Amino acid sequence: MSTLYDRIGEESILKLVDDFYAGVEKDEVIRKLYPEDLLQPKNRLKLFFIQALGGRQTYTDERGHPMLRRRHFQWKIGEKEATHWLKNMHAALEKASFPEKEKEEFWSYVYKAALHMINQ
Ligand code: HEM
Repeated sequence: MSTLYDRIGEESILKLVDDFYAGVEKDEVIRKLYPEDLLQPKNRLKLFFIQALGGRQTYTDERGHPMLRRRHFQWKIGEKEATHWLKNMHAALEKASFPEKEKEEFWSYVYKAALHMINQ
């Protein structure tokens, strides 16, 4: 069985994260949580998705075990922040050119993950 990574392809994952951060950059609610320079966050999210969707494990080689919920404890993430994160991801996904079925699978994954990240 092919992984979501194989079916979406690395190029599309990279573009998705660039488009997502272009939205975050203009987001009045969550922009302030991120550092001024978005280069590192972009790179981390790219490597994380590559790994989480079934590609190479470079994220863990560089950052260790993801423990994403724990890593997000340092920011107050309520329903409002999660909604804004998801809104930007949805906009990026709408611009993406991979098939609808893979978009739905990816959306269902990030939707659940974003709710899981709520910590207040
Ligand atoms: C629910 C709303 C969310 C908010 C407000 C949020 C916010 C943030 C912020 C401010 C950072 C720090 C940027 C950096 O220095 O890299 C970050 C990092 C990160 N986020 Fe989120 N995030 C959310 C949800 C998610 C979800 C759903 C995922 C994955 C499915 C995710 C994956 C990551 C990853 C992989 C990193 C880099 C962690 C590291 O290696 O240090 N985030 N997030």
